[in-house]
Amino acid sequence: MHDTIGMTAHLARQAARAGWYYGISRLLARQTQSARTSAAAADFKPQRPVPKFQDLLTDLGKLILEDAKAVRDGRYPSMPEAGDDFGRHVSRVRGMIADVPVAMARKNSKDTGSVRTAHPTDLAGLPDYYTQDFHFQTGGYLSADSARLYDVQVETLFMGAGGPMRRRALSAIVDAVRGRDQRRLQMLDVACGTGRFLRQVRLTFPRLGLTGMDLSTAYLAEAQAGFRDLTGAAWLEANAERIPLGDASQDIVTCIFLFHELPPEVRRQVAKELARVLKPGGRLVFMDSLQIGDKLGWDGLLEAFPVRFHEPYFRSYAIDDLDSVFRQAGLVPIETTTPFLAKLMVCRKV
Ligand SMILES: C[S@@+](CC[C@H](N)C(=O)[O-])C[C@H]1O[C@@H](n2cnc3c(N)ncnc32)[C@H](O)[C@@H]1O
Repeated sequence: MHDTIGMTAHLARQAARAGWYYGISRLLARQTQSARTSAAAADFKPQRPVPKFQDLLTDLGKLILEDAKAVRDGRYPSMPEAGDDFGRHVSRVRGMIADVPVAMARKNSKDTGSVRTAHPTDLAGLPDYYTQDFHFQTGGYLSADSARLYDVQVETLFMGAGGPMRRRALSAIVDAVRGRDQRRLQMLDVACGTGRFLRQVRLTFPRLGLTGMDLSTAYLAEAQAGFRDLTGAAWLEANAERIPLGDASQDIVTCIFLFHELPPEVRRQVAKELARVLKPGGRLVFMDSLQIGDKLGWDGLLEAFPVRFHEPYFRSYAIDDLDSVFRQAGLVPIETTTPFLAKLMVCRKV
């Protein structure tokens, strides 16, 4: 049965979210402008074409409509984006805005190369590429503050589309689970971060065996806190280069917004690990940023992104041949789509 009322309510909520996050992004842009003392970002002009704002909005509208239709068709329920109440949300937005001058000062003092906060934490055992301040965020992935602010930062960057884009990956999981007993299936989310995607999966599949894995203690703690009102999941603090799970132990593996943060050779090692833990015939549901050439007239955005944010491996990611990376690991791409600013690939383990 079609849930048209549910669809309309979902549509209205998502449109309001997009407007809200767009407003925050304008506020942040003003703050960034006034905090800037010297930065290559100020003068940077991409060589490749940049989409008009209208084109971005049209594509965002398509994504939101597709999301709402999936709710109408009962593929997944309409869901809150996070367990946050409004007061907490506002405090996080304020925290993000307050971090801008600190982050910009660090960026301006070191516009190229790696950027790191002097971490009080023990970095032993963490790979060197990982301990940088990704996105110029104070503490990189290592502090509780960064974990607290991550989701509002992502949603601000994507104009509220983080949730709807991840639900395109959720839709691929709905296809993979269809006709099977979810209680007998295991799904691993590699680099689960603050667990927002796992929440979406749990709200759709209350009995699916779920494991969230990440290298950040702080992000895993945030993910677990977000599961307080839900049936639990297993949590693993580990490096995706060496997943501490058995060969062929998973029916579904997901990996969302990790690869653009990895050096090229590490991407290949992680792809092998994703394949190793999957059962033959199992599905990899992979999502990350768009790559160069994916959307006509949008490549300039991908050039500008690593200039504005500290993303040391984004340029190499944007031109990497993911199809061949996955095939060489034993994963055959069966579907590739580009919802808004993301690229979604579904692969079958040979
Ligand atoms: C951009 S966030 C994406 C988080 C989440 N998947 C999402 O959709 O928001 C990247 C995540 O990858 C994790 N990460 C980065 N390198 C990793 C590695 N080698 N092993 C495990 N996790 C890693 C970080 O701690 C962070 O939580």
